[in-house]
Amino acid sequence: MTDTAAAPEAPKKTTMTVTIDGKPMEANPGELLIAAAERTGTYIPRFCWHPRMREVGMCRMCLVEVSGPRGMSLQPACMMPCADGMVVDTQSATVKKAQDGVLEFLLINHPLDCPVCDKGGECPLQDQTLTFGPGESRFVEEKRHNEKPIPISDLVLLDRERCILCDRCTRFSKEVAGDPLIHFINRGNTTEVNTFPDDPFASYFSGNVVQICPVGALTASPYRFAARPWDLDQVESTCTSCAVGCRVVVQSSGDEITRLQGVDSEPVNWGWLCDKGRFDFESISSPSRLSAPVVRAARGTAPEKASWSASTARVANALRAYESSQIGFIGGARLTNEDQYAYVRLAKQVLKTDHVDAQLGDGLTADAWLGFAPATINDMANAGAIVLLGPDLKEELPVLFLRLRDAATTKKVPVVEFSATPTGSTPYASASVRYRPGEVAVAVKAALGAAGGTDVDRQIAGVEAESLNAAGAVLAKAMASGKKIVVVLGRASIAEPGNAMVEAALALRDASTDVLVLPAMRRANLRGALDMGMAPGMLPGRTTHNDGASWFAAHWGAGPAFVGLDTLGMLRAAADGQIKALVLLGADPLTDCADRALAEAALSRAEFVLAIDTLPNASNAHADVILPAAGYGEKNGTTTNLEGRVTVLSSKVTAPGTARPDWMIASELALLLGTDFGYECVADVTADIAAVVPTHAGATMAALTAAGNADGIVVPVPGVALGPETEGTETGRTKPDVAEIDVAETEDVSPATMATPRQVRVRSVEGVVPQPDSYSLRLVTSRVLYDQGTIVQASPSLATLARPAVVKLHSGEIERHAMHPGDTVRVVSQTGELALMIEADDRLPRGIAFVAWNQGTETAAGANVLIDTATVSVDGVTKVRLESQRG
Ligand code: SF4
Ligand code: SF4
Ligand code: FES
Repeated sequence: MTDTAAAPEAPKKTTMTVTIDGKPMEANPGELLIAAAERTGTYIPRFCWHPRMREVGMCRMCLVEVSGPRGMSLQPACMMPCADGMVVDTQSATVKKAQDGVLEFLLINHPLDCPVCDKGGECPLQDQTLTFGPGESRFVEEKRHNEKPIPISDLVLLDRERCILCDRCTRFSKEVAGDPLIHFINRGNTTEVNTFPDDPFASYFSGNVVQICPVGALTASPYRFAARPWDLDQVESTCTSCAVGCRVVVQSSGDEITRLQGVDSEPVNWGWLCDKGRFDFESISSPSRLSAPVVRAARGTAPEKASWSASTARVANALRAYESSQIGFIGGARLTNEDQYAYVRLAKQVLKTDHVDAQLGDGLTADAWLGFAPATINDMANAGAIVLLGPDLKEELPVLFLRLRDAATTKKVPVVEFSATPTGSTPYASASVRYRPGEVAVAVKAALGAAGGTDVDRQIAGVEAESLNAAGAVLAKAMASGKKIVVVLGRASIAEPGNAMVEAALALRDASTDVLVLPAMRRANLRGALDMGMAPGMLPGRTTHNDGASWFAAHWGAGPAFVGLDTLGMLRAAADGQIKALVLLGADPLTDCADRALAEAALSRAEFVLAIDTLPNASNAHADVILPAAGYGEKNGTTTNLEGRVTVLSSKVTAPGTARPDWMIASELALLLGTDFGYECVADVTADIAAVVPTHAGATMAALTAAGNADGIVVPVPGVALGPETEGTETGRTKPDVAEIDVAETEDVSPATMATPRQVRVRSVEGVVPQPDSYSLRLVTSRVLYDQGTIVQASPSLATLARPAVVKLHSGEIERHAMHPGDTVRVVSQTGELALMIEADDRLPRGIAFVAWNQGTETAAGANVLIDTATVSVDGVTKVRLESQRG
């Protein structure tokens, strides 16, 4: 017998050699032949294969000859993993004959209505027939005819006879979006794609199937017959309808934006877009766009159009009349980085006010957003576990939801969801913890206790012990795995103070050294706004006034002499008469602020209100001066997504009338107030940011547009330093330290206390259960994708998708109140009331009333009429009761 000791294993090859059309290529293990060929310069035609979906081998268009034990044979390249030594022929006579046959069969019933098909001119079926097809058909029989088009949703139309049954739309809906609403129905010769009756294709991601359909079978109603591909001109840009920052191409025809298409950005959106981001471009050409400055001679008088010079002079005179501490800036999270930087200079450098806040009391503090160790989207997708501590991602950050769903279903990353109500992510969660509103931190700490080995044996924070132990088990396994835990952190309900979520995240951070946080910010460029210093106490570069004062004094001169107020503080100060001038930067506090009564009081008491905006809204109707701003697709610049990824925004069309980019408006106002920023074009602002803002060193326009940086640059760029040498960060600057966050809210707003805002400790609300006789329901209010917001309502294709406002309750609660679904009731808090129709939703825990934020009612008021932010900061929750409608 020979020695049986195993021979040392040969090292595994990391690449392999495949010969395609006589040329040797390097392929990666597991790589599909169709992908390897394309990567190395050989295009194999295809219809059904899509690099972001499971291969199915449906269409056979990708047949090529591949070497095997029995010689060369036809194989579908999309189903064939590369193997070392493989020889491939994509151009042989056999391949050509196969391609001819496939195309001839696909065209048997195809209507060939290319002249009236939206896809004509950019159609893979047209292109591949011309390049690889037979040139003529042997079929002379009558083609199949169907009714066309049939709407399968409000946004998508189906022409069945154009369909080539490639399975892309059906796979996308099921595998990627998790909305299996479009299917193959019937059998054999009568197989077709369709929806089931009464079950329309109501998906937030429906536009993606239009984009990936290789023919014109699926078309988008907002684009149908709008343009032909050869009329279109396009630029690559970033969607700014939320903070995910999906990469897009913006296409226009005749100086009007006609379509947005997703671009495959590996770290961000993988080519997908949500329907809001895809179709809300309609608001850009809304007839209501603000196109000229408007000035009100005095309060109560009608606004009148004015020249830019007269309007800006009026603004400069008004602002000059006030002390620094009497001026506040609200908003800006929708602007470009350049716009934000210019406004921060105007406020902090020129007017020397620190009353600047890009949020409207509906997010978290700058410390909370910036102070935790940051995660990217890819960190989340490859984490040991994902902890959801924030809003419903499907409603607020839809493509982030797609990435989370892929991580959970494909990579099997466990998801632990802490949420008072079910969300779109619930079906993918390994553990869901339904805490009583206001008690998230208590629930998280109990789950962490279970993760540490202390099993929970009773209900805590309204959560059954079983759920807490299940969440604890997932967390314990993730902590032991050595992989990172990524917390997706945001504001789950605007009826609760944000500090409860921060307290919960701090508990997770303290329990493990391996916790990263991905900020679930909603507004598009909130991350950029915070980076540019659009928050009280902050300066550009994620630094505080204390830490960055001398650096910025060297560049800008002296800044504010006090620590400013956040938006709620500014509104309280304005309502008290202490802040007298409010500048609204694309902000609508009446609609978006968490406390409507406070916003109303502030806007009516302020002596001077300047609004700079693109569309009319409830708040800018109160302004003394409105300056029209250039909007999306009308200006160049940069934006920053929730990861801190800076990407380029490109202009495509002309702004209406005399509307101008915001950085230009800020510069002009600064000049009138005595400071010349020296900016002549937006590139000057980008360059100034890269030169002065420590976190943005290296994020120059040259770097952002360099080959290889198409997906943007996550700042700070490692190894590129700017600013004074201090310890602890890559940029040499100190940053807000989450360890120092006192989970407390600024409450007092009087000028005497502005420099040292009074802090109110969060009260633990464990065990506090409202009595059923009074305000017995805890309010949960969060956003939905289609709402009564300005942009959705100015986009005709989306406006009607916003559902009427309802109050959702468990049917047990409806019975307890002796009411019925469909009844209209008064939802009453200690602050205000709304008349809403009852809808039963037994997925909700009892004791909760859910009202979607900004969903609109007959009185145009949203859920913010029910919230008193001062009370909420003490009670930890908003309580409501139901009353019958008065006769
Ligand atoms: Fe493919 Fe389009 Fe038919 Fe769907 S509708 S199966 S994407 S051809
Ligand atoms: Fe735009 Fe956000 Fe939708 Fe992406 S997820 S397409 S960034 S709105
Ligand atoms: Fe390979 Fe369709 S692309 S079978």
